Amino acid sequence: MNEELDFESLRTGAGIFEVLSKAKALERAGKTILHFEIGQPDFPTPTHVKEAAKQALDDNFTGYVAAAGVLELRQAIQNEIESTRGFRPTVEQILVTPGANPGIYFTLRAIVSHHTDEVIYSDPSFPTYGAVLNYLGCKKKPIPLKEENKFRLDPDDIESTITKNTKVVIINSPMNPTGSVMEQDEINRVAELAEEHDFYLLTDEIYSKMTYDQKFYSPSIRDQTKERTIILDGFSKAYNMTGWRLGYAIAPERIMDRMGLLISTTVSCVTSFIQKAGISALTGPQTDLHANMQAFRKRRDAIVKGLNKIPGFSCLTPQGAFYAFPNIRKTGMSSKELADFLLNNSGVACLPGTIFGANGEGYLRFSYATDVTTIQQAISQIKEALV
Ligand SMILES: Cc1ncc(COP(=O)(O)O)c(C=O)c1O
Repeated sequence: MNEELDFESLRTGAGIFEVLSKAKALERAGKTILHFEIGQPDFPTPTHVKEAAKQALDDNFTGYVAAAGVLELRQAIQNEIESTRGFRPTVEQILVTPGANPGIYFTLRAIVSHHTDEVIYSDPSFPTYGAVLNYLGCKKKPIPLKEENKFRLDPDDIESTITKNTKVVIINSPMNPTGSVMEQDEINRVAELAEEHDFYLLTDEIYSKMTYDQKFYSPSIRDQTKERTIILDGFSKAYNMTGWRLGYAIAPERIMDRMGLLISTTVSCVTSFIQKAGISALTGPQTDLHANMQAFRKRRDAIVKGLNKIPGFSCLTPQGAFYAFPNIRKTGMSSKELADFLLNNSGVACLPGTIFGANGEGYLRFSYATDVTTIQQAISQIKEALV
């Protein structure tokens, strides 16, 4: 492992917040900015979820709880996994985390132990993966995603990247930043490769409830998280709970034991009354989620249609999550140049694809967590600025 940690190597994960603060600075200077940069649903947390947290506070459910999480929440997660993934993990395999983001760190920290260990993941991908791998000082093996493959991670590319040092493969479907969703047979093939070559499979399923046409499919069905598959999921995206900091991991017991130790020595436990809200989110009515996905579908259709009308842009239709990832190469500008230009000249904040990896060059990411009118307004402002 690294003897001296290069903290600069962690900055990859902070790129999103840098754009956000530039946009906020412009707003303070009196400009109106249309926000497409942050991956946060704009809907409120469902009322019954907020009520559950309030009730927990009134009941003085405010003390420390088990490091692994409140048993009732872990049981609700057991039921959730059974109904959505088709198997039932034990409660000992479930860890409640302060969001999925730290779950990425806890998982990789629990598995990766040597600087020769290799971790395969996609480029572009959610920046935390690369930042955590930098922090751990292991070998990063990013696989470039291809637009002609609709940004789906190709199992053949994974196969040709595997070596005897491959320790973990990370997949994320539906995916940030491209909105791509892997096919069932592709996911099965990755799970087979994990078995054949004996590596761990970290499947980041934070967008599991956010597919448009395809049914969500998890590779965990194969080993039922008993051997090598680790699932990460959470409440931020599906239940509009980004600020609540609530997620969970499901892992083989020997890995979970380590992750439990990591959580108890760092955060002690996830906030008690927030966990009560999590129970309500999973077991209560799912009407808000369904209504939000209908709204997201309309927004997706509006933004894809609009982006495709901007000269120099072309955009695939995302199959999940709430991100559009247009190709902007024909504008002649780099991703960073164009994102800066759009922020300063059209009042639209979006992210350069390079925040998600070098292979994101030539793309922008728009988080369409905003209403159709704002989307249409942004498209016309971009068009105007580019003429
Ligand atoms: C792929 C991916 N994984 C994990 C996270 C982290 O989510 P949480 O709010 O649960 O920490 C995000 C958030 O944007 C994400 O896009």
